[in-house]
Order: sequence, then structure tokens, then C-alpha cells
Amino acid sequence: MSETKHSRQPFGQYPRIRMRRNRSDDWVRRLTAEQVLTPADFIWPVFVKEGGAAKEPIPSLPGVSRLTVPALVKAAEQAAKLGIPMLSLFPYVPKERKTEDAREAYRKGNVIDKAIRALKKAVPEIGIMSDVALDPYISHGQDGLERGGRILNDETIEVLIKQSLALADAGCDVVGPSDMMDGRIGRIRDALDANGYSHVKIMAYSAKYASNFYGPFREAVGSKSALGRADKRTYQMDPANGDEALREGALDVAEGADMLMVKPGLPYLDVLWRMKQQFGMPTFAYQVSGEYAMIKAAAQNGWLDNDKCVLEALMCFKRAGADGILTYSAIEACTLLQKL
Ligand code: PBG
Repeated sequence: MSETKHSRQPFGQYPRIRMRRNRSDDWVRRLTAEQVLTPADFIWPVFVKEGGAAKEPIPSLPGVSRLTVPALVKAAEQAAKLGIPMLSLFPYVPKERKTEDAREAYRKGNVIDKAIRALKKAVPEIGIMSDVALDPYISHGQDGLERGGRILNDETIEVLIKQSLALADAGCDVVGPSDMMDGRIGRIRDALDANGYSHVKIMAYSAKYASNFYGPFREAVGSKSALGRADKRTYQMDPANGDEALREGALDVAEGADMLMVKPGLPYLDVLWRMKQQFGMPTFAYQVSGEYAMIKAAAQNGWLDNDKCVLEALMCFKRAGADGILTYSAIEACTLLQKL
């Protein structure tokens, strides 16, 4: 048997060696498992909206709803009780609040601002992360300002800074720039530090791909129709590229990121693995809306076992090096883990 640089030395040969011995019973499988999944591994992305019904189901994300602030507070209490360390907030913004300059993104009193303040008051023990990007707030659905058909990098960063400072002011613990503008991590870090927010952490969406698996999310935040047939390939990464993710990661580390993220998740486990190996940073994977929807759709058809597939996919992120996973299945997974 040839030994590759990744495989360990084979310690012997069949029949003396029988790999199945350690798989014989549940107790020995548990004893020899290399990874465990716990509630502390999950970051729960939630959608928050202003007014109306407490819960508004999102058809393309079965089991996920947009919540009003009071409903979100209740959900956060449940998450905290289950041991989930952090929520990640996303806004649903009505059309009439979207503008070309995305000024709603940093308006004091916007739905995210209200949500963070309410959560910090009612459930201070849970961490709050919020996305830094303009897409829910901008009339054309891109993550940045646009002029003459181009997404403007440096002008967009100025708005992202305002948004980050507004989030920090509301009490946000972790800002998550998901926009993929060049240089934004360093500029946001400097702005936070200069304004008394040196304690606010940055989780950089370091390797964020121009993925088609974001479809249901764009429906959830109401940016899908705004975006129309446009795509985000001038700033999000090409799915063909792996080395480039390491360059993105290196820049984010140098610019002061506290945590790195790879997104989407399952089709990009190689990127996750490489990032973790390369930088040894706290590294997270985002199991995105399309990945969640695929499991749900197949399960609804009776083609997959939902509960088993949910836990298997999450475990695989751990094996590939994730310190945690952003997943819409966070609550569901905690409940399933309790039943094991
Ligand atoms: C916005 C953002 C997106 C997601 C998280 N933040 C969508 C996009 O880039 O178009 C996707 C999350 C998901 O699909 O679950 N910048």
C-alpha cells in the first residue's frame, strides 16, 4: 500500500488488522469518533422584519420564518437555553425603504438596530452577529453601490463603515462583512477602533463564492426581485478557484479579522479544510439557504431522511475543519442531538 503524505502509516495488514472491530457497537463507535457535534458549534441565522404577523413562513426555506422583533426575542431565548452561542441577523426590508445609496443600512431605528437592542436587553447571554452588506437595503439588490454598471469598491466601503458603526452602537458583538469588497476588513477594523469599539469582533466572509445556492436567502430578505437577472460575479469568487480563497484569507487575517468564514458549505469543504490548515484561525462554514432547502425538499418527497441528513452534513463540516457552522437547522439540530 503506498503511503501518501496525508495518510498515516498503515500499522499492519489484514487479517491481523480488521478495521471493522472498532465499528462493532454503538459504544465503541462513540468512543473512537474523531469529532463531536454540540450546540456550541452552531450559529443560527435568523430573518427579522418590522411589524405584521409574528411569524411569516418563507416558502423556499421550509421551517424558517421571518420574525418580528418580539418573536425573535422569544426565539433567541430558546436558542440560548439550548446552548447555541450566537445568532446571525438578517433584515427583511420592504421595497419602499430600499434606495440607491442604501442609507437604510445605517439608519438608527432600522429593524436590525431595534432587534439588536431588544436582544441585548432580554437575552444578553447570547452572542449577536449581523451581516455587513448593502443588498437588503439597496434598490438594485447588489452588495455595493453601483455607477455605470459597475459596483464601486471604495465608495461602498464608506457605507459599510457607517453600517458597522451603527451595528456596534446598537450592541452587536460580531460584524460579518459579507460584501466581498477589497480592503473592507481593515477599514472597518480601523473605524471600529477609532470609535471606541475595539471589543467588537469581525467574522470575515473571506471566501464567499458567487453561488447559485443563495436563491432562497435572496427571497427571504427580499433582494431577489431587486437583483433580477444580475449576478455578483464581479466581487464574489469564482467557484473554480481554491488558491484564491487562501489569498483572500491571508488579506483578511492581515487586516484584523478575528474569525474567517467559507461560504457556501458542503460543495466547498476543500476550501474550508485549506483555510483551517493554512491559518489556524477560528474558521466557520455557512451551510447556505440552498443547501438547507435541498435537504428539506428531498425529505418532503420521502427521498431522504431529514434528521439523519441534517446531522450528517453538520458533522462533515466539523471533520473538514470548521470550528462552527452557520445553519438554519441550528434549533432542529440541537433537538436531534438531545435525542441521540
Ligand atoms: C448578502 C448575503 C447573502 C447570504 C448571506 N449574506 C446572499 C448573497 O450574497 O447574495 C446568503 C446566505 C444563504 O444563502 O443562506 N451579502
